Amino acid sequence: MRRPLIAGNWKMHTTYEQALELARAIQARCGMAEYAEVVLIPPFPWIVPLSRQLNGSSISLGAQTCSAFDEGAYTGEVSAKMVAPFCRYVIVGHSERRRLFGETDAVVAAKLRAVLRNGLQPILCVGETLEERESGATRDIVERQIAAACSDLESGQVARLVIAYEPVWAIGTGRPATSADAELVASWIRAWFRERFGSGISEGLRILYGGSVTAANAADFLAVGDIDGALVGGASLDAREFCSIVEAAV
Ligand code: G3P
Repeated sequence: MRRPLIAGNWKMHTTYEQALELARAIQARCGMAEYAEVVLIPPFPWIVPLSRQLNGSSISLGAQTCSAFDEGAYTGEVSAKMVAPFCRYVIVGHSERRRLFGETDAVVAAKLRAVLRNGLQPILCVGETLEERESGATRDIVERQIAAACSDLESGQVARLVIAYEPVWAIGTGRPATSADAELVASWIRAWFRERFGSGISEGLRILYGGSVTAANAADFLAVGDIDGALVGGASLDAREFCSIVEAAV
C-alpha cells in the first residue's frame, strides 16, 4: 500500500528562529507518526540547520526548487547535488515557479532530471489555472505538464516520483478544490501513468493534493482512494494545524 505523505511547503516564510521553533514543535507533536511520512520543505538557508535539528527523527526535508545544473558558473542557483546530503525531496514545477519565474515545461523537465540524477525524489506539481478549468482544459493541461516532464523517463525513475495536483486557483485562496474534483484529476493522472508505464508503476505512485488544505478539510482529501497525501502551504506554518493534517492521514 502507498504510505501517505504530508509535506509542508513553507515557501518564502519564516526567520531562522521561527524555522527552528516550527520544526521543533512539529517534531514534538507528530515526529513519531508512523502512518504517514512527514516532510518539511523550508527555504534553502534553513535546510542545513534543520537537518541537524531533526537528526534522528523520522521527519525528512525537501527543497522548494533546484537548478537544472549540478555545479558551475550559475550565480544564485542552488543545485540538487548541494541539497542531496540533507534532503529526500525537491519540488519541481510549482505553479509559483512556472508563473512568477517563467519556468517552462522544458525547464521543469530539466530540473526533474537533475533531482533524479542526484538520488532525490521529485515532487512534480501540476495543475490548471481558473481560466483553463473554466474552458474545460484541465485534463489536457495536467497531461501536457506530466508528459513534458515524464514521457521519456524509465520505469525505475518514475517509481521515485511524487505527483502533486495543485490547481492554481486553489493555492493560497482559501478556496480548495472539492474532494470530488481532486479525485477525478488524480484518477486521470494515475491512468496516464498506467497507460505508459503499466499498473505496477502507477499503483505505487503517490499523488498528493495541494491548494488551501487545512485541518478542517484534509480528511476529505485523504479519504479519496487515489490521493495519497497533501502538499500544504499556509497551514504548514502552524505546528498544531499542520500536525492535525498529518493526523488526518491515520
Ligand atoms: O505547495 C503548496 C501550495 O502551493 C498550497 O498552498 O497555501 O494553498 O496550502 P496553500
